[in-house]
This record gives sequence, C-alpha cells and structure tokens, in this order.
Amino acid sequence: MLKGKKILLGVTGSIAAYKAALLVRALIKEGAEVKVIMTEAAKSFISPLTLATLSKHPVSVDLFKEDTWANHVMLGRWADIMLVAPLSCNTLSKMAAGLCDNLLLAVYLSATCPVMLVPAMDEDMWKHPATRKNMETLVSHGNIIVPVENGELASGLFGEGRMAEPETIIAALSRQGKNEGRLNGKKALVTAGPTYEHIDPVRFIGNHSSGKMGVAIARELFQCGAEVTLVLGPVSDTFVLDGLKVVHVQSAEEMFYACNRAFEKTDIAVMAAAVADYTPAVVAPEKIKKKEESWQMTLKKTPDILKSLGQKKTGKQLLVGFALETNNERENALSKLQQKNADIMVLNSLRDSGAGFGTDTNKVSVFDRNGGEKYFDLKSKAGVAKDIVDYIIEYIHV
Ligand code: PMT
Repeated sequence: MLKGKKILLGVTGSIAAYKAALLVRALIKEGAEVKVIMTEAAKSFISPLTLATLSKHPVSVDLFKEDTWANHVMLGRWADIMLVAPLSCNTLSKMAAGLCDNLLLAVYLSATCPVMLVPAMDEDMWKHPATRKNMETLVSHGNIIVPVENGELASGLFGEGRMAEPETIIAALSRQGKNEGRLNGKKALVTAGPTYEHIDPVRFIGNHSSGKMGVAIARELFQCGAEVTLVLGPVSDTFVLDGLKVVHVQSAEEMFYACNRAFEKTDIAVMAAAVADYTPAVVAPEKIKKKEESWQMTLKKTPDILKSLGQKKTGKQLLVGFALETNNERENALSKLQQKNADIMVLNSLRDSGAGFGTDTNKVSVFDRNGGEKYFDLKSKAGVAKDIVDYIIEYIHV
C-alpha cells in the first residue's frame, strides 16, 4: 500500500522520538520514500545522522542556515502525506495556534497534502483542558489523528499518552488513499449549502448551512476518482473546488432543476444541502415597506429534490440522503430513508455538540435499506466525508 508514497516525517522533542528510527526503517521496507524534518528539541532525543542514514535523505532542521533558506513550501508540496510522530505537547499547541517559529511548523502551515498527527506526552498533559481544546482545533482543521495508547510512560507512571507503535502508524497510513481510483468512471452528484427563498429583492428565507459538509463529500468522491458535479447553494465560505464541476444555485427550485438535469447520467447522488421546505407563494417585485404592526406571508411547499430523485432512480443508481434531526433521530432518519426511497441515509443531530450546521466537525450515523447501521465519532467534516464515501464504496462493492 505504501509503495512509492512520498512521506514527510516530522519529529519533535519527546522521548518517543527514538521510535522514529524504527518508523523510518519500517516505512522504507514498505517501499515508501521518506524525508525527515526535526525540531531543535528532537535532536536531544535522536540524532539527525541516524534518521538521515535510515531515510537516505539529509534531515532538515533549520528554516535559515548561514546564507540559505529551506524551501518549506516545496517540502510540503513534495509529500503525499505529512506525518508528525511523535507530536509533542509543545508542537501540538503551536500547530493549533498557527505559530510558525521553526521549519517543521512552517512546513505544516504550508502543506497542501493530508497531515497525520501522532501525539505523545504524559497523561496529565494529554488530559489538560488546554490540550483537549488544541486537539479539537487540530481535528477541525482536517488533520488525521492516530490516537495515543495506554501503557507505561516516560515518567514511570502508567496511563494514556504513549505514542502509537510504528505498526499502528503504518496501518493508519495504509488506510489513507485505500479508495484511490475505486470510483474511476463513476459520475457523482452532490448538493451542498443552504437555499435562499426570496421574499422581495432584499429579503429571503434561508438557514445556517455553510456548505462545508457537502463540499467535503464532493472532494472525497473526486479523490476516489469520480467525476463530480456539485450543486452549491449560496454560501459565504470560500472553498477550493478544483476538479469539481460546480453549478451555483439560489433557491430550492433552482437546485431541483439542476439536480434533475444531472441525475440521469449520475451513478451516485449525495444530497447534503439544507433545502428550504417552504418558499413564499409570491415574491414581491419591490422592497416590502414597514406599515402594519403584524404581517403575514403565505408559503407554499418547495419540490422535494431527494424524493423526486428517489422516484426516478434505476437499480444502478445509488441515492444518499441526509437527515438533520433534533429529536427521535433514528426513527426519523429511518422513516426518511423509506419515504424518499433513498439507499443510504446519513443522520446528524443538532443535540450532539459540534455536529450539524456551520461547524468544522460533524457526528453522523449511517443507515441503509438493507438494514445496515453504523455510528461514527465526532470528526472533522473531511473525516466524516471519508467515512461516508467508505460506506458508499462498501455498499456498492466497487
Ligand atoms: O452545510 P454545513 O454547515 O456543513 O452543515 C451540514 C448539514 C447540517 C446541512 C448537513 O449535514 C445536513 O444534514 N444536510 C441535510 C439538511 C436537511 O435539510 O435535512 P432534512 O432532514 O430537512 O432533509 C432530508 C433530506 O431531504 C436531505 O438530504 C435534504 O437535502 C433533502 N431535501 C429536503 C427538502 C427538500 N425540499 N428537498 C430535499 O431534497
């Protein structure tokens, strides 16, 4: 799985840095190409000479050395993945804060590849509220975390905080990109964001969807080889949408037509948008003036996009819906799965903190029409998108 993969290993100042030598050796054995960067503190635990010899590449430590400047941007672009193992408490907090006072941090901040973090520290440091908060920030930034293990710590105490063993790290790396090319030749349709239902030229009915969840799914499907059309409602966040065909829409009706146009040629459709259920029956041509003490507006139902696609889907098409619930979550999600004739329903509940609208994280459960159910932890929306796409790939057996 790791043959030919370019891995940039960052080593920071922790007693677990001695495992970096075993890790580099194991990665090379797997056929990966490894370059190492270290913090100054890491050099107190393991020598750059050891890691340079094992990786067969010079080790970089300094951002500036005499009259030369290390090109941190190119290092981040060279790598297929940046792995930081061990990640000390100090570097972890600097990463969360976006500090940039050494080469490793400069590379981390400019890396365009996925980043995998393998923390290592004493249990009390690991459990400190500041570290907890920093970890949440790093997860929300899309980093992949290899969890700490339980066992004997450098302090002599036993508990959580040990760096994962090299075999565990290699297994986590191998899972990355396991779906590369699995969706080659497939066409995917994804909806994301809110819809705006105009009341008059200056007002609308909308909701808090940022588009982050749907965009993460579109990106993940694209990473796995699918040709992706993203039907995107009006969002204020700016996204990198390279490689996706994007159709911008405003209202539920516009989203309905865009999806129905694309659906015939679609193999996999994922409806992650938060579509308005009602729209004003009449849109005022001029700005409505404030006159009466109270004012009523008549709303009419919008077309149900998911349901309409469910009615026309063939046996070869896969339809995935989302359910955003506040109560009776499982029951409501299962009933939406049936009523809208979807194959898979992804449930997120507004009762779970960090889940749903606007956040960088989400917590989902997935149900399918064959009775399958899977419950996932709170993750970055990129991580949730990976889980959903993994589920889709397993479901359609490609
Ligand atoms: O965009 P983010 O800020 O990242 O937030 C993500 C999210 C919370 C919007 C997303 O994870 C999510 O839950 N999207 C669906 C929200 C929603 O409208 O849920 P619903 O239970 O009301 O709708 C059920 C399904 O029917 C959804 O797939 C929805 O896209 C679809 N629908 C709803 C109404 C309608 N008129 N047409 C539809 O197709």
